[in-house]
Amino acid sequence: MENDLIEHAKQVLRDNDRGTYTVPTHGLYPFQWNWDSALSALGFAHFDEARAWTEIDTLFENQWDDGMVPHIIFHQVDEGYFPGPDIWGTERPVPTSGITQPPVAGFAVRRMYDRATDKPLATARARALLPLIHAWHQWFYLNRDPQGTGLVAIIHPWETGRDNSVDWDVAFQRVPTEGVAPFTRRDTTHANPAHRPSDEQYKRYIWLVQKFRNLGWDNTKLHDASPFRVVDPGFNAILIRSCADLAELADELGEPTIAAQSRAMAQKGNAAMATLWSEEYGQYLCYDRISGTLIESPSVAGILAAFADIPPDKAAALTRRIESLAEACNYLVPSHDPRAAEFEGLRYWRGPVWLIVNYMIADGLKRAGKSEMVDRINADCVRLIHRSGFAEYYDPITAEPCGGAHFTWTAAMVIEILSTQDVTV
Ligand code: GLC
Repeated sequence: MENDLIEHAKQVLRDNDRGTYTVPTHGLYPFQWNWDSALSALGFAHFDEARAWTEIDTLFENQWDDGMVPHIIFHQVDEGYFPGPDIWGTERPVPTSGITQPPVAGFAVRRMYDRATDKPLATARARALLPLIHAWHQWFYLNRDPQGTGLVAIIHPWETGRDNSVDWDVAFQRVPTEGVAPFTRRDTTHANPAHRPSDEQYKRYIWLVQKFRNLGWDNTKLHDASPFRVVDPGFNAILIRSCADLAELADELGEPTIAAQSRAMAQKGNAAMATLWSEEYGQYLCYDRISGTLIESPSVAGILAAFADIPPDKAAALTRRIESLAEACNYLVPSHDPRAAEFEGLRYWRGPVWLIVNYMIADGLKRAGKSEMVDRINADCVRLIHRSGFAEYYDPITAEPCGGAHFTWTAAMVIEILSTQDVTV
């Protein structure tokens, strides 16, 4: 049974493989996405290590000179996606978007290196990637934390990878819609509009893109110029974890400067995470850097914080928090608390379960020794796949498959989970 699932998942990866990169799914997302690739490489690594390394190499071949790694790389022309290269106007040799995404590549590369059966290959590829990933991490703290708080802000909701989360609702009101050139969405022709962001949100997404393009995509200006600057605990946890993992890898590969700098960034970030903790919600919260307040929105971002090295009492509290969410749904971990008024079980990041998020939460909780909860989350992942296939995301109450089907990173997570953990469904 499990072997069948793994074989099926491999087929999804193969079908979405475009040679040197994978598309998240055919149609809806026809290009390379940043954190999709990093996490999908973990799936490839179980049956084709060379192909897994290539996935990350291709991503970093498109790194900007300032160190940023873009969130989309438009390897080929495809009219079926909006906003395409003409809207972004980044003028890169291979067109890219102009914003970034959660920097999970550092974590993925260390994991791939540690598990590699072909050590010479892994050493060569990891050694080449090490300074590139490090430059990206430094780019974050330089450009997205100009005050040196230890936490980075995102300047567009798409950067967090949680596009339409409830977390942004209030802060997003500050983003105008005037002056947005008329456009036609393409996502709603590939997926059910009820599963996707609203038109009003789309206008604001595009307003920000136009604003940044008018500033020439100069990252030294964008943070301060953006009317949307939010510190996301999940995003920061991913960055902190990747810095910490890169430090370990750099030690192994004999790069003491990168190791020391990475460790310093991770330590500073870890200490600053405490400022995002909410005793009232029993989890971390986002912080609105413009209003100077925590955002009272019980989303999964504050639980994904478990991916970094958080203190044991916080890991215990987050475990209790997930237990309480389990009372309100059938499949863990919902992207928003089902008891909150804003919860929508089918709509993208406003309620549905995403396997990649589950994987990172479970990984963090495993390190914190919360094995019972880890087993529960893993089992829910597998139950979802059995019921509803390799979907983009799932309703946490009914398990209804949502968004795109035949989804790469969902399949990659299934391979990763079933190949590395004992799962009892
Ligand atoms: C959506 C998701 C984002 C993901 C992308 C490609 O935009 O919100 O996290 O990277 O699709 O799968």
